[in-house]
Amino acid sequence: MKLWGGRFTKPTNELVEEFTASITFDQRLAAQDIQGSLAHVKMLGACGIIPQEDADTIRAGLLKLKGKWEGGDLPFSIGDEDVHMNLEKHLIEEIGPVGGKLHTGRSRNDQVALDMHLFLKEETTELAGLLTHLVSVLTAKSEQYLDVIIPGYTHLQRAQPVLLAQHFLAYAGMFRRDVERMQDALKRIDMMPLGAGALAGTTFPIDREMVAAELGFSRIYENSMDAVSDRDFILEFLSAASIVMMHLSRFCEELVLWSSTEFGFVELDDAYCTGSSIMPQKKNPDVAELVRGKTGRVYGHLFSLLTVLKGLPLAYNKDLQEDKEGMFDTVDTLKTSLILFAGMIETMEVRRENTERAVKQDFSVATDLADYLVRKGLPFRQAHEVIGKLVLHCIGQGKYLPDLTFAEYQGFSELFEEDLYAAIDVRNVVEARNSLGGTGTESVKKQIAGYQDWLAAQ
Ligand code: ARG
Repeated sequence: MKLWGGRFTKPTNELVEEFTASITFDQRLAAQDIQGSLAHVKMLGACGIIPQEDADTIRAGLLKLKGKWEGGDLPFSIGDEDVHMNLEKHLIEEIGPVGGKLHTGRSRNDQVALDMHLFLKEETTELAGLLTHLVSVLTAKSEQYLDVIIPGYTHLQRAQPVLLAQHFLAYAGMFRRDVERMQDALKRIDMMPLGAGALAGTTFPIDREMVAAELGFSRIYENSMDAVSDRDFILEFLSAASIVMMHLSRFCEELVLWSSTEFGFVELDDAYCTGSSIMPQKKNPDVAELVRGKTGRVYGHLFSLLTVLKGLPLAYNKDLQEDKEGMFDTVDTLKTSLILFAGMIETMEVRRENTERAVKQDFSVATDLADYLVRKGLPFRQAHEVIGKLVLHCIGQGKYLPDLTFAEYQGFSELFEEDLYAAIDVRNVVEARNSLGGTGTESVKKQIAGYQDWLAAQ
């Protein structure tokens, strides 16, 4: 017998029952559903909407269900459609017809919205914590490898040498903004829809403030139709999550490159790599590849929900049931990705022999040599031209800039003096960039200190 069976004369078609049911996935909201019901029934009793004694009986019944759910001892059935009706059925079985008073002044429409808000509030807070942990791992790694210099790239061509720490801290900046985005999304997640009823509010003298306080919400939806049809808070979460995955994916791409023989900048820990079933020599960066790969499904969930919502008239429509699986999958994907990614960075080692060789065997100090001539009085455009020719000369000779003799330099410009060699020493080149936000060690140390302060305040 369906909870809504009164006006029906026929049983539901079996496939329809399966098609419309959400219990296979929304049972994940059972804890939140019970939490919401406990607050609702407390309010019903306190406001005299149902006798206090009935409220107490219902509360005891709900606590029993909670225990059973936690013990894995609460069977759910497709016939009862969703987590809300499965739990109500169980409650009535547990305490008798008085259990039917729980749904007074409430609809599944405001109930399911409440469950989603409660669920995301918890998960977003946890994800912000995992992101903060990643920022701390990157800050620690930056300190550990503060002396390492790598080529910095534009167009994936060697551009100017930078501290590896500067590269790490660029990502720390992205993940710190991700924490802020999650915290900002939380402001809209932290809103209480219960009390909206099906769409129009209720005839009972409910106390929404009391329920909100009981559940720890800071704000209440001011319009009942908005409360039951709003899914912006999930969209915001999915957007923030998509940006997190995009950041992880960019970094993963670099780790895949950096751990290749061609780059050889880092050695990923064996615990974070896998092998090949045929090629005995292989050690593959699967975690980095798979985090990169899973980015697509999270973007997909964002687009899927945007599309579900785009043509929906107010207020509740069954389409909204499609908000759940993508959100659950996003939470799970993000959690695993963040945990594994942080572990991979934490355990990764830098191969200094390769980073040192890389910064010696390139022309990424050419800008500094041009700046050198500018300091000797040459207009930058002309200096650029001179150094361009010098680089061409080096390529022809199979040499790098530090290998040229002083006489060779003089042949290109009389402004060159012996101090030119110091000007193109890679260490000096890096240390000369202590402008605010630059890659010099002093500037990087200031950035690290900034992250340490921020972390301490979290
Ligand atoms: N399972 C539904 C959902 O997830 C709950 C709300 C159903 N409300 C309704 N009027 N059919 O959206």
